[in-house]
Amino acid sequence: MPLRLDYTNMLAPAVAGGVPEAEWRRAGELFATACATVARQRSEGVLGFLDLPADAALRAQSDRFAEGRRGFYHDVVILGIGGSALGPIALRTALRPPYWNLLDDRARGGAPRLHVLDNVDPRTIAGLLSMLDLARALFIVTSKSGGTAETMAQYLIVRDRLHATPGIDPARHLVFVTDPRQGALRPIADRDGIPALDIPPNVGGRFSVLSPVGLLPAAIIGIDTAGLLTGANAMVQRCATTDDLARNPAGAYAMLQWLADTRAGGGIHVMMPYADALRDFASWFVQLWAESLGKERPDGTHVGPTPIAALGATDQHSQVQLFMEGPIDKTVTFLAVASAETDLGIPPGHPDVPELSYLGGRTLGELLDVERRATAGALARRGRPNMTLMLDRVDPTSVGELIMLLELATVYAGALYGVNPLDQPGVELGKRFTYAMLGRPGFDGARREWDALPRPDPRHTI
Ligand code: PA5
Repeated sequence: MPLRLDYTNMLAPAVAGGVPEAEWRRAGELFATACATVARQRSEGVLGFLDLPADAALRAQSDRFAEGRRGFYHDVVILGIGGSALGPIALRTALRPPYWNLLDDRARGGAPRLHVLDNVDPRTIAGLLSMLDLARALFIVTSKSGGTAETMAQYLIVRDRLHATPGIDPARHLVFVTDPRQGALRPIADRDGIPALDIPPNVGGRFSVLSPVGLLPAAIIGIDTAGLLTGANAMVQRCATTDDLARNPAGAYAMLQWLADTRAGGGIHVMMPYADALRDFASWFVQLWAESLGKERPDGTHVGPTPIAALGATDQHSQVQLFMEGPIDKTVTFLAVASAETDLGIPPGHPDVPELSYLGGRTLGELLDVERRATAGALARRGRPNMTLMLDRVDPTSVGELIMLLELATVYAGALYGVNPLDQPGVELGKRFTYAMLGRPGFDGARREWDALPRPDPRHTI
């Protein structure tokens, strides 16, 4: 069955803090306008992520590379950050067995381990490099812009290590995933004979998981990339052709979240999978939602929801107290899985101990699912809006559907908030200050701006 959205608990008055039903009834007209904006953006060619599911040639780049190098590598390391890292991490966690990197070769079916750096913390990188056999390692340098400081620093370190290791050809241990024309990586690839796969120019970092950004590592570790695209394509077909909210789950998701934020004070959007396999999807969603929608609008107003990642049942013993009794300023989206791939029976053990005996004869899958439903019901009872995205199982098709639903919801939400969901101008100033402090040529103006900022004041430092 396709992915389903149950938003019963999003609507007031049934759930006191939810979206007023009258607003929801009127939403169709607003959504038609948002749809028109998205249709225009698509016709302008800026929503390249919508074309990825049908791009068999692009998928073939990843599959061919993976096939050609099968058996060569024991470890694959993604050098990248943000949209270049979070998608691959989410795919690995969702679609490979748990503890993938701890399994032996046989259990991994001969596929390599997959590590994703996503930062420049020297402790982590030194730790990883010290445990790799470089002769059996492949480094995927992923950067849409081909110039991100963190990724370039990771690359320079790895390149140096490869060149310093006798007997290996660095070009056999590097592959770039980058824009076909722009950025520093492309000319380096051409000059040094390093293979390079394309991120289409009209696909931005956080929307790129279904390009070689996600598909190359996925193919290398044996994930069914065709299945991912099939699911994503089904979601494009299901949503992109209709402005009827009752038939467009991405539209309904975006509209409910936007109405919750702007009409019901629910500007904090929690993503809470009840499956460890989907835990890293919550982090992927956080980046997608935050970087796309948190913006200054042309009229100078500031908008955007605040996404939060949570995990059930773990966070029932952490953040759920806040969700339940803190300010009524949140929505919670549960990610539920109808049938668990693996389940474990709970033995009776202590039939005479009432605190344990009710668990005997149940399964862990049942416990997890009952806890999800109990938490959703308890939130609703307390007037706290929540909704559920239900996957039949965690497989490539349903994960493809989920990715596309949330990406599409993000561009609908961008239209509703009146912002461009595809850019991230807010991160530029910090980058310019970084470049200025590191002495990058051409950033003298930023250096002066930096020097004019208040210095740490000893009176205000304890
Ligand atoms: O979503 C985005 O565009 C960003 O988060 C980028 O993915 C991130 O900044 C890394 O950029 P790049 O892929 O150009 O190295």
